[in-house]
Amino acid sequence: MPTSQSTVQLINHLDRDYLRHALEHDVRTGLTATPKWLPPKWFYDEAGSDLFSRITRLPEYYPTRRELAILRARAGELAAASGADTLVELGSGTSEKTVLLLDALTAAGTLRAYTPVDVDAVTLAAASERLTGRYPGLAVQAVCADFERHLGLLPRTGRRMVAFLGGTIGNLDPDAREVFLKEVRDGLRPGDTFLLGADLVKDRGRLVAAYDDAAGVTAAFNRNVLRVLNRQLAAAFDPDAFEHVALYDERNDWIEMRLRASRAMRVPIDALGLVVDFAEGEEMRTEISAKFRPDGLRGELAAAGFTVRHWHTDPAGDFALLLAEA
Ligand code: SAH
Ligand code: AVI
Repeated sequence: MPTSQSTVQLINHLDRDYLRHALEHDVRTGLTATPKWLPPKWFYDEAGSDLFSRITRLPEYYPTRRELAILRARAGELAAASGADTLVELGSGTSEKTVLLLDALTAAGTLRAYTPVDVDAVTLAAASERLTGRYPGLAVQAVCADFERHLGLLPRTGRRMVAFLGGTIGNLDPDAREVFLKEVRDGLRPGDTFLLGADLVKDRGRLVAAYDDAAGVTAAFNRNVLRVLNRQLAAAFDPDAFEHVALYDERNDWIEMRLRASRAMRVPIDALGLVVDFAEGEEMRTEISAKFRPDGLRGELAAAGFTVRHWHTDPAGDFALLLAEA
């Protein structure tokens, strides 16, 4: 256990220009396509991250509790197997579950550094500050970055465990997932490991309920992307004029979240010099959340060059947490 003062360093690869440029590109591409779509990374401003935190506590949203249960049972074993001194976490958010890994790596006597990586700078900074209070001597090197673009810029020192929790892998479409897994794999050096949390295929009713909760928190999270566009791109969406839709696509094994226009609308997006027309009832896709079958996920990992060393599920078989090597 390190005894010296802990330190926080924040590296930002998402300066205003970059963010604006990437958002402009995504919005122009997605909203001029048929059907319209938006990538889920833009849900996560400070308000979006807060709404996601509320989602994790909803009775219908089982993934966080399931992954937490696996971590409670297996973090010690996984930490020992990894021998990691540096934990790099992609899409770390509030880092709430991460403390189980940090505790286990501390108990194993190896932990030196933690690198949380997230697009939401506010949530990232708050989580980093909180953790330094809890782990004296830990070097926290937070990186505000897009894990689909900036993996090559992450620190590569130490024996690393790269963690990607929560089932966020499912928010990438299959092509993006293939590219992402190969990039993670290419960034690992001998001795490094990849810890991946993935949600599994299950009863359709439970899946849909997890993305269409009775309290309407997921609906607010879904509409938040319109608020982000209004603020960042001087758009004029009326979020209340869009209904939250969550459906399960059995052919693709994924939940799809959409926003459905409840009336015909013309929406100016001033920063893009664009006006977007919605027909009454038109649906725009805002997220996929893929659910995995064990063989399929193992196959995708093998295709990217990983060997799965540990595979754990919760007792109900809802969620999987695996440790892989390059
Ligand atoms: N790992 C946490 C949070 C999951 S929510 C958990 O398991 O509960 C998904 C997180 O990934 C959010 O914090 C969001 O801001 C972040 N995120 C989404 N897309 C991202 C991207 N392209 N690059 C970096 N972070 C991203
Ligand atoms: C972050 N990600 C794994 C969540 C999910 O379940 O796909 C995002 C989310 N969308 C709606 N509810 C939660």
